[in-house]
Amino acid sequence: MKSILFLCLSVILFTFAMLSTTGTSAIDSDSKDTTVSFKNDVFPLIEEHCLPCHLREERNMSRLFMDNYELLMKGGFNGPPIKPGNADESLLINKVSPDPPFGERMPMRSKSYLTDEEIATLVQWINQGAKDN
Ligand code: HEC
Repeated sequence: MKSILFLCLSVILFTFAMLSTTGTSAIDSDSKDTTVSFKNDVFPLIEEHCLPCHLREERNMSRLFMDNYELLMKGGFNGPPIKPGNADESLLINKVSPDPPFGERMPMRSKSYLTDEEIATLVQWINQGAKDN
């Protein structure tokens, strides 16, 4: 008898837990902190600011090609530029920031660097796991 009661209680608690999770995610999707998409948010930035030099056919001296997700994640001369979940240690972020660890700040020789908002998009995407989404 006791175990049946316990089972009922678990089912009720589980239902509540599910309900409250669905509730939160519905709110989240309306807020600004939604999931950053590689396809819709990140790649357009790369296409505009980075691809002119980082296309595979450009044979860029960094050997970092950004034609697609796979090539970007594979990385170039200094290895994978993205550490999923850790934007601070991702070379991609360090190179677009004011004080890069080596070489020039990216986009190289550009009159306009990425805005804080654009960098924040990249940071958020990496910290969310840098998924091919
Ligand atoms: C005008 C050409 C040019 C543009 C535009 C450009 N890059 Fe680069 N990038 C280079 C060159 C050349 C190097 C190699 C020299 C260096 O590391 O400073 C390089 C190196 C890098 C590296 C280091 C790769 C490695 O493994 O050593 C990263 C990361 C990088 N670029 C990211 C970017 C990002 C992100 C953008 C767009 C926001 C961008 N670059 C735009 C020319 C460019």
